[in-house]
Amino acid sequence: MAANDIKIAPSILSADFSRLGDEVRAIDAAGCDYVHIDVMDGHFVPNLTFGPPVIKCIRPVTEKVFDVHLMIDPAQPYLRDYAEAGADIITVHAEADPHLDRSLQFIRSLGKKAGISLNPSTPEQVLEFVIDKVDLILVMSVNPGFGGQSFITSQIDKVRRIRAMIGERPIDLEVDGGISEKNIKAVVSAGANAFVAGNAIFSHGDYKSAIDALRAAAG
Ligand code: DX5
Ligand code: ZN
Repeated sequence: MAANDIKIAPSILSADFSRLGDEVRAIDAAGCDYVHIDVMDGHFVPNLTFGPPVIKCIRPVTEKVFDVHLMIDPAQPYLRDYAEAGADIITVHAEADPHLDRSLQFIRSLGKKAGISLNPSTPEQVLEFVIDKVDLILVMSVNPGFGGQSFITSQIDKVRRIRAMIGERPIDLEVDGGISEKNIKAVVSAGANAFVAGNAIFSHGDYKSAIDALRAAAG
């Protein structure tokens, strides 16, 4: 895959929340593709972050794609709120939704791109009957809840299997958790094209060189 086909999505979970608008401006200027926004409810995952009002506040700061990762159960009652707050892609977890087909259709009916995320223990078969209703598949390569965790290598095989399922469909295959210069190439080789990175970008003083280094390592 050519380096310019790779999408880098910094996770603002690792940003300095006291300066969130400036942090989003900085990753935009540093050349990110998506802004990855981790929404946690303290129930589906053991951490709490923020909801639609915060997303609405940072929406005017950038024109980059808002890639909203909902780690909330239930998600369905709140999908419209996230759409109205400025999400471009809304991703729900397969494990948190017994009516995935309905949620995916609803997200698209709101004019947004629909994503499904799978925890590390969730097999890819859950995608089989809804794959024509998704725009993005998000493979968790850590157990969701926190930034800065170690990459779970078993997920490389899952990425490979999902890439085969996707075939020629125009679906982003995104990987989230523990992505670094050291492992990004292996995940690209398995077929992923979009990469969330929290710690690898925000722990670095210079966001542009961190993003460039990920792209270089991916290519
Ligand atoms: C984890 C989140 C991730 C996380 C990635 O629950 O979904 O987006 O912030 O951070 P790193 O790259 O530090 O693992
Ligand atoms: Zn995420």
